[in-house]
Amino acid sequence: MNATTRRHGSFIAVAVFAPPFAFAQIPAANSAGDYKKHMDDIQEAKDDLAYAIDDKKTAQVVDAATRLATLLQSDISYWNTKKNAPATELARDTHKLAAQAAQQAQHGDLPAVQTSVVQLQIKCRTCHDSHPENLVEHRFRK
Ligand code: HEC
Repeated sequence: MNATTRRHGSFIAVAVFAPPFAFAQIPAANSAGDYKKHMDDIQEAKDDLAYAIDDKKTAQVVDAATRLATLLQSDISYWNTKKNAPATELARDTHKLAAQAAQQAQHGDLPAVQTSVVQLQIKCRTCHDSHPENLVEHRFRK
């Protein structure tokens, strides 16, 4: 969903795409498919966060940042289990920044949240550029 559909979306679209507590379940991410789904959930939480910042909806910023932090928490365990220290460290960094953003939002400091999100995105990219999936591919494809 992009910013335009979100802003102009109908009530039905909102009800379908943003049910409350839809992200309560954290995927176990034991396979490549699970992990992609997990990353898609992370992407969606990060997009929701960006839209909420744009719209200056502080309560939604808190919600999206908290959801993102929870998802990234499970990313730490995932890479830790795969014994990939650099990826675990990057997951830890992203989790820390998302949790920090949630705290800043609770204090109503949206400019600070925005700064954290920019730093967060750099970490997402750093991990993607390092392609840690190649190191576990033999396990994924079995
Ligand atoms: C610790 C490493 C790591 C971090 C941090 C990370 N990712 Fe990923 N991400 C991956 C890997 C690995 C893949 C590729 C998975 C595959 O193709 O098997 C991926 C894939 C993706 C995909 C594509 C999923 C698909 O359906 O193919 C999206 C979207 C994504 N990441 C978003 C994000 C966002 C947004 C963040 C930051 C908030 C982030 N990622 C942080 C490792 C990471």
